[in-house]
Amino acid sequence: MAFATRHFVRAASSDAATAAAKKLLIKHVTVIGGGLMGAGIAQIAAASGHTVVLVDQSDEILKKSTKGIEESLKRVTKKKFADKPEAGAEFIEKTLKNLTTSTDAASVVHSTDLVIEAIVENLEVKNELFKRLDKFAPEHTIFASNTSSLQITTMANATTRQDRFGGLHFFNPVPMMKLVEVIKTPMTSQKTFESLVDFSKAVGKSPVSCKDTPGFIVNRLLVPYMMEAVRLFERGDASKEDIDIAMKLGAGYPMGPFELLDYVGLDTSKYIIDGWHSLEPSNPLFAPSPLLNKLVEEKKLGKKTGEGFYKYK
Ligand code: NAI
Repeated sequence: MAFATRHFVRAASSDAATAAAKKLLIKHVTVIGGGLMGAGIAQIAAASGHTVVLVDQSDEILKKSTKGIEESLKRVTKKKFADKPEAGAEFIEKTLKNLTTSTDAASVVHSTDLVIEAIVENLEVKNELFKRLDKFAPEHTIFASNTSSLQITTMANATTRQDRFGGLHFFNPVPMMKLVEVIKTPMTSQKTFESLVDFSKAVGKSPVSCKDTPGFIVNRLLVPYMMEAVRLFERGDASKEDIDIAMKLGAGYPMGPFELLDYVGLDTSKYIIDGWHSLEPSNPLFAPSPLLNKLVEEKKLGKKTGEGFYKYK
C-alpha cells in the first residue's frame, strides 16, 4: 500500500510536471499598436480563428486601422475565394467578428494568452508599456515584441516574466509575407519558444528561429547589404541605376538595393544603422553613410515622401 501510494504520488507529480511543461495553446491575442504592422498582425490572427483585441492610442487611429483591415481582407478574399463569393463573404464576417478594438491595454490583457507589441520603435516607450502590462496580464501570458532592431532581452528585463518573453518579427506587408522570425533570448523558456513557433504556424506563417542579435537574420544581412550599395555609389564606382539593374539581373533579386531603401524608408534604415553603430562602433558593416544622412536631413525619405534615391512624382 505504502509502495502504491508512493507510486501514485510520484506518477501524479510527474503528470503535473508534464502538464507544466506543455506548450501554451494561444487562443486570445492582444496586439498593441494598430499601425502598418499591428493591423496586419491583428488581421492574420483573427482570420486564423484567434480572438483578437487591437489596441492603439485613440479611437480615430483604430477606426483607420479597422478600415485598412477590411480593405485588405477584401483583397485577400478576392484571390482566395475567387469562384466562391459566398464563402469569401463568410470569411470576412467571421474574421471581423473575432476582432475588437480598445484604447486601454491594461483593461484588456487580463484574459489574453499572448501580447504582441507593434508600437513605435523606441526602447524606452516599449519598456514602459511592457512594465505596465506586466502588472495586469495573467501569469501564463506570453509577451512578444515585433521590433526590427531593438534588443528583446532589454524589454524582457523591464518585466518579471523574462521566461515568458520573446520576439515575433513579422514582415511588411504582414498578410502577404510568409516569414516570421521567432526570437529567443537567453531567458526565454523552451515552452514559450515552442508556443510562439506554434502560434506562427497557426497564423499561416513559416517560422525561423534566431537568438537576440542585432537585426536577427533578415535585417542583419539586408541592412549591411543596402549600406554597402550606398557606399559603392558614394565612391562613384557605379550609378545607383546600374547597381539596381545588376542586383536584379545578376543576383535575381526582385528589387535593387536603392529601390528597396526607398520602399523601406530612408529614415527607418538610418535609424537601424545608427542604433547598431552605437552598439558596435568599430563594426565597418554598421558604419553610417554621409549620403544617407544628407537625404534624411532633406526629408527625402523614399516612396512615402515622393523622393528618396529616386523621384516618385
Ligand atoms: P506605425 O507607426 O505604422 O504604427 C505604430 C502604431 O503604434 C501607431 O498607430 C501608434 O499610434 C501606436 N502607438 C504608439 N505608441 C503606443 C502606445 N504606447 N500604446 C498603443 N499604441 C501606440 O509603425 P509600424 O511600421 O507598424 O512599426 C511598429 C513596430 O514594428 C516597430 O517596432 C517596427 O520597428 C516594427 N516593424 C516594422 C516593419 C515595417 O516594415 N514597418 C517591419 C517589421 C517590424
